[in-house]
Amino acid sequence: MDKFIIKGGKRLEGEVNVSAAKNSVLPILAATILNGNNCTVENTPMLEDVFVICDVLKSLRADINIDKVNKRVKINTANIFANGANDELVRKMRASFLIMGPMLGRFGSFKISLPGGCNIGTRPIDLHLKGLSALGAEVSVGHGYVEAKAKKLIGSNIYLDYPSVGATENIMMAATLAQGETIIGNAAEEPEIVDLAIFLRAMGAKIDGEGTDTIRILGVKDFKEVVHKPIYDRIEAGTFMITAAITKSLIKINGVDEIHSKPIIAKLTEMGVAIEINKNSVIVDGRQKLNPIDLKTMPYPGFPTDMQAQMMSLLCTVKGTSIITETIFENRFMHAVELKRMGANIKIDGRSAVIEGIDTFTGSEVTATDLRAGAALVLAGLTAEGTTAIKDIYHIDRGYVSIEKKLRGLGADIERVHYDK
Ligand code: EPZ
Repeated sequence: MDKFIIKGGKRLEGEVNVSAAKNSVLPILAATILNGNNCTVENTPMLEDVFVICDVLKSLRADINIDKVNKRVKINTANIFANGANDELVRKMRASFLIMGPMLGRFGSFKISLPGGCNIGTRPIDLHLKGLSALGAEVSVGHGYVEAKAKKLIGSNIYLDYPSVGATENIMMAATLAQGETIIGNAAEEPEIVDLAIFLRAMGAKIDGEGTDTIRILGVKDFKEVVHKPIYDRIEAGTFMITAAITKSLIKINGVDEIHSKPIIAKLTEMGVAIEINKNSVIVDGRQKLNPIDLKTMPYPGFPTDMQAQMMSLLCTVKGTSIITETIFENRFMHAVELKRMGANIKIDGRSAVIEGIDTFTGSEVTATDLRAGAALVLAGLTAEGTTAIKDIYHIDRGYVSIEKKLRGLGADIERVHYDK
């Protein structure tokens, strides 16, 4: 097992480069199932979750080459099995469930282990299944598996009860090979949905409306070879913006799309963080006194739930009262318990957290409970008085490429230490 040891209180400076978006690359790699030709994804973030979805595809007998040096993944799924993704792997990572739509689209059937929930919520898949049924699939759930069969997928008019990112992606991918037109109403509008649509269109899919709440897909017969460079990771970018704010530093962040990061930049600006926006980068000056704010997580273009934990760490260090309301997941405040071990003053009441600013965190031994909670603890450790040890950092490695190397590049005192549990 590994843990991070962080000696806090240092001012940081310099530049940091953002990697490509995990939540773009995962559906894009799943979408290669649709295409029996060579698919190349450039600038792929070498993350644990990316390796897991590649292992899932390998368990279907996809031909995959992962070039870690050049950050390139080449996939050919011409000879994959119509079924039989490795259950262990599918249960290991929820996003594996994104192979469902492509498998149904290409083979007219799939059987897959129900994905695990995770610490932040039950993570149901009812909207995914409702959408695929609307395309003509006969879906059954039982004995821990989901099974679906369809002679031919027929385009349909689907209206999502909730703008689910994963359900939008699964339905969009399946619909690319359905007969006729599919309209997805109340679709998710996240930038990662747009990036997936760009990838699908590049291989020959007929899609428009991505990035709005209505996406139209006209089924096609087959696809062609594709090379794609994914968008930057707006959540990693936001995490580094908060790094500057919480350590009262001035940092340049390369790999920032102003539109994708708008909700995050807007809230940090409201707090008094000075952010200079350039073409593909920002300069964040966190040296001013910051003010408390109220924050509510919402589907894009609202404030992203994946930045909620990181914002909580920052707001803990801002004098006054701030309120965070988490509207997306039912159990996404577990980082509050760990932050309180570091001296935070947080009261949780259902979906809301009331935060009273403290002078400073105090270093402590804490545990990452999920990916973004782990990032929040790193941020708290960077500004804490004394030393912070963070255990279970495998959660953090799922979504951040070498976060300790990138932070050390800014002058942080953070080490990855191996220990036997
Ligand atoms: C994606 O998860 C992201 N993961 C999550 O990022 C992100 O937090 C989430 O979108 C919201 O933005 C990937 O893209 C791999 P949802 P997803 O379906 O698709 C409910 C991270 O840290 N819902 O939009 O699973 C669900 O319970 C991860 O990188 C249903 O009720 O999110 C939740 O309350 C964490 N029924 C809400 O919708 C369904 O069928 C949002 O879920 C599906 C979802």
